[in-house]
Amino acid sequence: TPRRPIVAGNWKMNLNHLEAILLVQKLAASLTPQQLTDVETVVVPPFTDLRSVQTAIDGDKLHLVYGAQDISQYKSGAYTGEISGAMLSKLGVSYVLAGHSERREYHDEDDALVNAKVKAAFANEITPILCVGEGLVTREEGTHVAHCTNQTLAGLAGLKPEQVKQIVVAYEPVWAIGTGKTATPDDAQEVCKAIRAAIAEKYGTDVGEAVRIQYGGSVKAANIASIMAQPDVDGVLVGGASLEAGEFASIVRYRE
Ligand code: G3H
Repeated sequence: TPRRPIVAGNWKMNLNHLEAILLVQKLAASLTPQQLTDVETVVVPPFTDLRSVQTAIDGDKLHLVYGAQDISQYKSGAYTGEISGAMLSKLGVSYVLAGHSERREYHDEDDALVNAKVKAAFANEITPILCVGEGLVTREEGTHVAHCTNQTLAGLAGLKPEQVKQIVVAYEPVWAIGTGKTATPDDAQEVCKAIRAAIAEKYGTDVGEAVRIQYGGSVKAANIASIMAQPDVDGVLVGGASLEAGEFASIVRYRE
């Protein structure tokens, strides 16, 4: 079965809950239910927007889904500032980012912590979007492929093949995030293909074929078609260009 394309917009630390409702409504108005069925379209707002986004999407039965940007590895308790998987799942969250490069860089998240977050997501029936990617030094050294496959397998450690099948991996070269520098489609394909092969080798060919892999890093309407044309790229994780409804809708309509 062909993999369903998945376009996700990571709003990062942008938009309050009122702005969030407006963006969701504009987005839904710019895309038909059919377009939103053909391409799974996910918004990933800050925590404080999730309740409003849930109300806007469910209340109007919009064909959009939503995710969270992070999840605590803990179930509950004295972890000031943290948000649990149970809290997210109660809000109808379908996806959660795990190990975004900004969490790895500014919050010292390592592979073991990212793996614990992936497991916390599964424990709450939320699908993790496991983010991996190399920095500029690794890219220049030429060890980026091994770096990314290692990060992927470390993030998935201890999962069952049926779980790995469901996950989404987002390959985001750190040097391409928010910089306007996009990896070439061939660069994106090289790493996404290697990630799929590494998963297939460890968990089985059927698992490798089922996993959806996104590219992220300065994706916009102007470059989406060439990225999505790559056989191992099943979607994109969009930052900056997801904050404007028209631009994000054009990304979702990449086939037209
Ligand atoms: O999660 C999204 C990525 O970090 C990409 O961000 O599209 O602003 O480069 P960007």
